[in-house]
Amino acid sequence: MISRIFNVAALAGDGIGPEVMREGIKVLRAVEQKFPVRFNLTEAPVGWAGMDAAGKALPDTTLALCKKSDAILFGSVGLPDRDPTVPKDERPERAALLRLRREFELFANLRPVRLWTELAHTCPLIRERQGAGIDLLVVRELTGGLYFGKPKTTEQLGPHQRRAIDTMVYTTAEIERIAHIAFRAAGGRSKSSGKSKGKVTSIDKANVLENGILWREVVTDIGSKYPDVELEHMLVDNAAMQLMLKPAQFDVLLCENMFGDILSDEAAALAGSLGMLPSASLGVAGGDRVFGLYEPAGGTAPDIAGRDIANPIAQILSAALMLQHSFGLNEAHDAIVSAVGKAIAAGYRTGDIFSPLDRSSRKVGTREMGDAIAAAL
Ligand code: IPM
Ligand code: MG
Repeated sequence: MISRIFNVAALAGDGIGPEVMREGIKVLRAVEQKFPVRFNLTEAPVGWAGMDAAGKALPDTTLALCKKSDAILFGSVGLPDRDPTVPKDERPERAALLRLRREFELFANLRPVRLWTELAHTCPLIRERQGAGIDLLVVRELTGGLYFGKPKTTEQLGPHQRRAIDTMVYTTAEIERIAHIAFRAAGGRSKSSGKSKGKVTSIDKANVLENGILWREVVTDIGSKYPDVELEHMLVDNAAMQLMLKPAQFDVLLCENMFGDILSDEAAALAGSLGMLPSASLGVAGGDRVFGLYEPAGGTAPDIAGRDIANPIAQILSAALMLQHSFGLNEAHDAIVSAVGKAIAAGYRTGDIFSPLDRSSRKVGTREMGDAIAAAL
């Protein structure tokens, strides 16, 4: 049988990036054994690793590789304690990650949060509050708002007075396109889960911000085009509270950039660990393909780096999202998700999701977890 070939730029980055990336690649190799696909993976440095290799957080050769690839599989970048003399605009968070988001116009960030039944005890909420279960999707706008709005600057007003300015800007078009993504995702989720109706909860601060008012108007307008999806609006402070009180009420949360950053970490904590949270950052679709960057949302975790204890599941599930969104390999995506489920059901636990009270489970390292998932495939 002829295999389809996909070109992937694998940028492991810093901290736990390289060790979780290794497991992500291991699982992609297992996918090749099972499906008629081949991944042409090319590794390249980014972050402090890019700085060390080529003096830049995003070396030109790495950017060029991304441009000719079908998708980017990303690890993580940024080590807060490294070299404070490197100016903020050259540090990895801005110069590599935000730069890539901007460069490829990766405006749609999808973060699926799911509390696996076997891991219910890792959720900080008591069972009664977990309700029917936590299974939600944060759809975060990723190239607008406070992260990129101009002016963005710090001014010297006097000898002891400075003023920092970040600007929250959204255009109608930016809100429309991310809203479409959220409504389509909600429709798809209700179909695949057998629920009668999907739901979008649109998050804003319409009681204070001009941006919030526009956001609510535009989302309402787009929502009217999706009669099969229920729409509700929620103020961001209330949403932060509702996530703690009654997370099962949420299906798709539609957020502007910074609200989505904050609420997705909160939601991930509900699912037991940031080490379980994958993400897809998608660009504008061209034909049936969409370019994307796929990364675990948990960061570099320098305190546990290099010790074979990090949880590789977020990286592995990010690779699965790549197969689904950029390559249209839905079956392979589902196979990875169910392999993760099998490894969890079989009792494999990295330290972040391990509880000694759960006698049927066993603490394993990064590699062993990757091996178990690849074997389950
Ligand atoms: C995330 C991260 C980034 C963000 C940082 C590292 C710039 O927190 O992807 O959620 O704020 O977007
Ligand atoms: Mg974040």
